[in-house]
Amino acid sequence: MKIFLDTANLDSIRKYNDMGLVDGVTTNPTLLSKEKGNPAEIMREIVKIITGPVSLEVVSTDYNGMMEEAHRLKKYGKNVVVKIPMIPEGLKAVKKLKEEGIQTNVTLVFSANQAVLAAKAGAAYVSPFIGRLDDAGQNGMTLIEEIVKIFKNYNFKTEVLVASVRHPMHVVEAGKIGAHVVTLPPDILGKMTSHPLTDKGLAAFLADWEKVKKENPKLSI
Ligand code: G3P
Repeated sequence: MKIFLDTANLDSIRKYNDMGLVDGVTTNPTLLSKEKGNPAEIMREIVKIITGPVSLEVVSTDYNGMMEEAHRLKKYGKNVVVKIPMIPEGLKAVKKLKEEGIQTNVTLVFSANQAVLAAKAGAAYVSPFIGRLDDAGQNGMTLIEEIVKIFKNYNFKTEVLVASVRHPMHVVEAGKIGAHVVTLPPDILGKMTSHPLTDKGLAAFLADWEKVKKENPKLSI
């Protein structure tokens, strides 16, 4: 299972990249709006820090506009994946970009049918937003099950990138289903690194070691 960070926050990206946890990054206009500084410079910096795929999103909604933005974004670095909204004009852009050798991530996917069409158009990744479906009273993880099954049935090469993740159990469920990628807000990745029993166990080990050191003051390891 690949883990992407779903953020435009450079400190978080550096922090988790230094732990070897970041296979890629996904951004969107909302995430960029939360950061101070020039969004274009932030995107360029992310592309420099991360060697894996970095999804950068277009903001046009017409084919020509999306293509122009895609070509500009791709110049930020060879690991750029162009994020395209799941709309008919977007699918046309996905097809053309695939022909040009530019990878795309189709975003705002809320149904299995949309995922199939994005894959047929040539997307490298599809991003179903599971948390937003949960919020709307639907089961987001059921959608992931459906898409993974359909893609397996037909040997589609498109990867299922689970987005709008809200808690660590979403990650476990996505892994059990066999989704290729989860993209995580930094706070969720942070939660995954810790467990109360780990902290309790470590405190006990250190306390016991203090006792050993009292009996052997010159001891070092
Ligand atoms: O990658 C898409 C994701 O950022 C959307 O998450 O929490 O805004 O539904 P959310």
